[in-house]
Amino acid sequence: MLHIFPDPSSIADYVSSTLVEKIRSKPELVLGLATGGTMEPIYARFVERVRRQKVDVSRLTSFNLDEYVGLSPDHPKSYSAYMREHLFQHLHFDRSRLHVPDGLAPDLEAHSREYSRKVQQCGGIELQLLGVGGNGHIGFNEPGTPFDSRCHVVRLSERTRLDNSRFFEGNAIVPASAITMGMVEIMQAREILLVATGESKAQIVAEWYRREVTEAVPFTVLKRHARAKVILDEAAASQLPDQVRRSLTAVPA
Ligand code: F6R
Repeated sequence: MLHIFPDPSSIADYVSSTLVEKIRSKPELVLGLATGGTMEPIYARFVERVRRQKVDVSRLTSFNLDEYVGLSPDHPKSYSAYMREHLFQHLHFDRSRLHVPDGLAPDLEAHSREYSRKVQQCGGIELQLLGVGGNGHIGFNEPGTPFDSRCHVVRLSERTRLDNSRFFEGNAIVPASAITMGMVEIMQAREILLVATGESKAQIVAEWYRREVTEAVPFTVLKRHARAKVILDEAAASQLPDQVRRSLTAVPA
């Protein structure tokens, strides 16, 4: 399940070509999408590839993992805005099939239940893209989140707010809470590609490798998934034991 690539660019090639292949064989694919710095080169390469290979993305359905509570879809730091900027505006999607939780929903709990229901109605996620937080979160499922949680409202940890402050320049404050798909929706995905790049992820990747499955490190749950790939660049893999790093070879793009 573990694959090491030289750098984020070769990961972007691999993930974007995997996505294109899957969409070609099933244009109505249901994708689970992530935001964050890790995904930016991947979406950029995907956009290029879709254009070059004239792939039809109009029948795709997507569900984003999460959104900050209190940010409207038009707020420049919302995940809706991120998705428009990095992916949605560049290709001919059917916008009615693209879902991002609404951080301004008047009843957030009801909205979370409804979001989870929609994922089920679409048959669940077929291919889920994930990044990982420096504390091991996936989506915004912070350490300690029960593995049986569904889409819910979460209070973000100080660590996550600090990590994400790099996206909020000036005095803008990182929101204190978010809506996230739960561990259940993520683990029900038929296939998962988790990507971690850069030295800032090396420590949590090493911890993931060392530890048994535990709610204290949400990302460890992927060890229970039959079709999850953990895709690392060399920097993110740098604290893995030497023999592990040597024995792993990149899957061909
Ligand atoms: C974002 C998300 C988060 C990020 C994680 C890593 O939608 O679900 O779990 O994937 O915080 O973020 P970056 O890629 O910015 O390091």
